[in-house]
Amino acid sequence: MKSRMMSLISLNFNNLNADSKLTRMSQRRKFIKQSLMGSALFIPGVSTIAEAKAPSLFKGEKPLILSTWNHGLPANAAAVEKLKTGGSIIDAVETGVKDTELDLSNLSVGLQGLPDREGITTLDASIMSGDGSCGAVAFVRQVKHPISLARVVMEKTPHVMIVGEGARQLAISEGFPIEKEELSPKAKEAYEKWKITSQYKPIINIENHDTIGMIGMDAKGNMAGSCTTSGLSYKMHGRVGDSPIIGAGLFVDNEVGAATATGLGESIIRICGSFLIVELMRQGRTPQEACEEAVKRLIAKNSKNIKDIQAGFLAMNKDGEVGAYSVHPGFNFAQATLQKNGMIDSGSHFK
Ligand code: GLY
Repeated sequence: MKSRMMSLISLNFNNLNADSKLTRMSQRRKFIKQSLMGSALFIPGVSTIAEAKAPSLFKGEKPLILSTWNHGLPANAAAVEKLKTGGSIIDAVETGVKDTELDLSNLSVGLQGLPDREGITTLDASIMSGDGSCGAVAFVRQVKHPISLARVVMEKTPHVMIVGEGARQLAISEGFPIEKEELSPKAKEAYEKWKITSQYKPIINIENHDTIGMIGMDAKGNMAGSCTTSGLSYKMHGRVGDSPIIGAGLFVDNEVGAATATGLGESIIRICGSFLIVELMRQGRTPQEACEEAVKRLIAKNSKNIKDIQAGFLAMNKDGEVGAYSVHPGFNFAQATLQKNGMIDSGSHFK
């Protein structure tokens, strides 16, 4: 039971909106440190701490937005704002993760993310609505908002996924600005350091790998999800992870629920993680049970090097129940309703 103890934090939603950009970086470091230590994070104004079997701050409330990692707090805030101003749930999940795509402190989402081994940043993203519509882009360069490009694929093409130069050309034809191809100062510094050893090994480290996956449900129960990342740092040029693969990094079905993933993409693709979780929920598992089963399956299929693999899953069902689980400790997520937004630590298989 100890492993299920959740550190629950609720924040004042309005305060968060105003302060989030300024405080995000320092809060993030604090979150990472404290999550890894398995202890609770306290933020001034925070009122709730509790133990829960299933990780949920606001059970059954709709609308509901969930996002991976603590960059999910400002992303959730942006998504909720979109809903409040009349946006649809697909608008909300797109708008939410766009906030993270612009976060200069983030080294694993957006053009400021860490590059591949050639020093080039390439981005992957997917978006899905609960009626089965979906779109994705992968291995795309120079586009600030790959999630919006994924939405273009979903809404304006007969396809599901466009990659590489084709995705960049689509962006140009749709009027997306094409950014200068240069690393952010932070990414450049990290890349120069990495080049000294050029070790190609996934590392269990939140800073190394913290894709944002967001899943949401509106007041009527319509669901949508989004997932965006610069992928594994120092990856082989052309490598694509789970985030743009529908069913691996993201899956949404209005009849059942939604799931998203974070962590080492190869391990998640091997078990078709997000689809697996939605199908387990379809068969009657709770979101928490489904996430735990997916982690078990992932461990079984990646057993040789599991100590080097971190992956986490986040899910909701159509009743607004929530689940989250990871391979190793350290995974957390943000949960928001129209009024509240807070962080929750997930449980993990290994302690
Ligand atoms: N989960 C993101 C990736 O592996 O690229």
